[in-house]
Amino acid sequence: MLTMLPRCVLTLCHVLVLVLCLSAAEDFDWTKNDRGSFYYGSFPTGFSWGAGSSAYQTEGAWDKDGKGISIWDVFSHKKGKVAFNDTGDSSCDGYYKVKEDIALMKDLKLNHYRFSISWPRIIPTGIKSDHINERGLKYYDNLIDLLLENKITPIVTLYHWDLPQVLQEKYGGWQNISMVNYFNDYANLCFERFGNRVKYWITFNNPWSIAVEGYETGEHAPGLRLKGTGAYRAAHNMIKAHAKVWHTYDTQWRNKQKGFIGISLSGDWGEPVDLTNQKDIEAAERYVQFYLGWFATPLFHGDYPQVMKDYIGRKSAQQGLGSSRLPTFSPQEKSYIKGTCDFLGIGHFTTRYITQKNFPANRGNSYFTDRDLAELVDPRWPDPGSEWLYSVPWGFRRLLNFVKTQYGNPMIYITENGVSEKMMCTELCDDWRIQYYKDYINEMLKAIKDGVNVKGYTAWSLLDKFEWDEGYSERFGLYYVDFRNKNKPRYPKASVHYYKRIISSNGFPNQREVESWKRKATETCSSSNQLLAAGQYSSAQAFRLCLCVSDPLTSHMEMVTEIVVPTVCTLCILLSAVFLMFLLRRRN
Ligand code: NOJ
Repeated sequence: MLTMLPRCVLTLCHVLVLVLCLSAAEDFDWTKNDRGSFYYGSFPTGFSWGAGSSAYQTEGAWDKDGKGISIWDVFSHKKGKVAFNDTGDSSCDGYYKVKEDIALMKDLKLNHYRFSISWPRIIPTGIKSDHINERGLKYYDNLIDLLLENKITPIVTLYHWDLPQVLQEKYGGWQNISMVNYFNDYANLCFERFGNRVKYWITFNNPWSIAVEGYETGEHAPGLRLKGTGAYRAAHNMIKAHAKVWHTYDTQWRNKQKGFIGISLSGDWGEPVDLTNQKDIEAAERYVQFYLGWFATPLFHGDYPQVMKDYIGRKSAQQGLGSSRLPTFSPQEKSYIKGTCDFLGIGHFTTRYITQKNFPANRGNSYFTDRDLAELVDPRWPDPGSEWLYSVPWGFRRLLNFVKTQYGNPMIYITENGVSEKMMCTELCDDWRIQYYKDYINEMLKAIKDGVNVKGYTAWSLLDKFEWDEGYSERFGLYYVDFRNKNKPRYPKASVHYYKRIISSNGFPNQREVESWKRKATETCSSSNQLLAAGQYSSAQAFRLCLCVSDPLTSHMEMVTEIVVPTVCTLCILLSAVFLMFLLRRRN
């Protein structure tokens, strides 16, 4: 009790300080935004609207038609690695539902669809000289053709985390420099087979996660915990692999195919807790540099951010190591890597408040302690789904402006943005997702008005799907997928109707109209719920859907109409029958 008291007091003080700082906070010069205001206006003509997915998260068919095994197949099959021991074995069965899913995209009037190619589906061991799986290539051929027939531009990711298991077992995966050539061979095959139709290529999706969660914390496949070194080494090899693939395209394919090679980096925004405190300002900058800057700075400027070199170098020296745990690029490598990004893909979901916090070097190595900072959140931020995902729209605009100033205003595609729900049941009326999309897309519009060169936006994700270590417990989809039904039916959530309006208006025309969108979207979703309840869908599905209605009043009303009323009626009929019989008997 005595030890608990100071802890409580401390936490309370922390929250108080945070709230005080927040109310005193002013906006950065370069954003000059009023956090509360909404901007009515349109996106530039030709702005591309899309939705996204990735192979392991949606395809299923994990061992079909000659596909090889990936590190995620192995990882998810180990007990205790994924919530509820879920796997991506069948997931949304996207492998078998290409036509159906393209019809959903068409209905949304998407301009582009972002998906990833599963490396082991087309090269089962990951090594091109071993074997090429023609059936795998045929699947992607068909997907690309159908997209184009429907006037949807494919944006294709080469690596969304599903490394062929053989490469992990033989070489240690991204810890090993040999991945650079294997990845380049694989990419080259994709350019050769699909490059006549695919013009937007993303080498890596979110290398930060691959490095940190795959090789530092072990929460993701391959599940290694090489603290303080593993992530840096994996990142180093991925940056080299990205550069090599860019050069391959540039020298061998660009003339003929006229496409673009980019990378998709994830980046949360970091805002100083106290804007008058230089240490907090520097800590927040460090947070962003260790996140997005770790990968973007080499690609745009040829080397790691100075602050990473300084911090990791100093800590390594204090730990008595002969050299920094952050690997170095040779001068030749620096010039080879610099400028290898035709467009920058950004996956953005959330923001943190950042304050300075020292971690003594003798307390062990880790990517996290190397940064000397602490992350905080405002308890008022909405967090409807994933534990880490707070809705902080203004952070999006700041991150985009940061990219503009740091990397010379590159061409940007938003490759992921969206929000999840954590319910095990159906809720088609996802008003929190409508709010999230509305506000985040609006902040992106403001950023474009600030001069940031954003060319397209990808809602994450088209469907509910396998959410990595969270399994199916976190749903990011615009479309609800009933995973318990073997047909994996898809149902539109209200956000589908809302996103459709944004797309067809290419922005937010005026307050009256935008407000009516939400009303209409919600009307549609409640009528979908009614349809479901009335047995439009199978009664088993409808039963599950109705059971999960979260609003207690609605549940109460449903209990009244579905259980109490029929029961009372039946009882009345029975009683009248008995009474009638009784009367007849007496007459006789
Ligand atoms: C980033 C990953 O690229 C994506 O696969 C995942 O679904 C989202 N984050 C949400 O966690």
